[in-house]
Amino acid sequence: MDARPILLFDSGVGGLSVLGAVRDLLPQAGLTYVADSAGFPYGTKSEAEIAARVPALLGRLAERYDPRLIVIACNTASTIALQHVRAALDLPIVGTVPAIKPAAEMSKTRVIGVLGTDATVRQPYVDDLAARFASDCVVLRHGSAALVELAEAKLHGESIDLPAYRDAIAGLFAQPDGDRIDVVVNACTHFPLVVEELAAAAPHPVRFTDGASGIARRVAYLTRGQEWSGSPDHRAVFTRFGDAERRLAPALARFGIPRSESL
Ligand code: DGL
Repeated sequence: MDARPILLFDSGVGGLSVLGAVRDLLPQAGLTYVADSAGFPYGTKSEAEIAARVPALLGRLAERYDPRLIVIACNTASTIALQHVRAALDLPIVGTVPAIKPAAEMSKTRVIGVLGTDATVRQPYVDDLAARFASDCVVLRHGSAALVELAEAKLHGESIDLPAYRDAIAGLFAQPDGDRIDVVVNACTHFPLVVEELAAAAPHPVRFTDGASGIARRVAYLTRGQEWSGSPDHRAVFTRFGDAERRLAPALARFGIPRSESL
């Protein structure tokens, strides 16, 4: 039996939206969820900081947890550091990229919103996806660090503040053509965790999409035919483990993760 886990990595709780999809598709897989709580948030960091931090940390994690595959369950880290990580590690690495292609397939108005972190929405990677898959669409972008904090707060058990969600996404819909957006790409893995709140806060009805199910299918494909140990063992690992991380235990339990530890 092969006990090696799939390692999913994010700055905080966002990657749980990806973990949920992977777990649904591969219930037999052991999952190690890593949140870089000491480095959180990524979205307000520079490209140089992310490109230096993420490959080094994943190298350390790969040595410690011996995963069969790593999922970078973070758009910010993926759009900036995916190539560096692939160059540094001899393991399959699955990244998270903004789901602009499916959004373009869904949109009737041909106006798409991309909601991510400040760091993600300014990446040339996003220009490239828009040019390749949505060249006949207007692609409006908005970066929100506040929305990342709101998703963290929700999973830490804090109460939901709808006006704060409205404020966080107002800048997307206030742009020229913003009133015609019919599909919003959740281009930060934190945002699917608050999709009901986003739907309620949007100034008009929109559909949301994200990359989680595509990532799960990719992971299933890359691990097809592999053995798994009898009963899957899931854990969460934090780069800093304090009271805030302890308060995540109920949310982690809802995702099937019974225990947490410090790196
Ligand atoms: N969850 C991350 C993403 O997908 C980043 C959140 C943050 O640390 O700012 O981009």
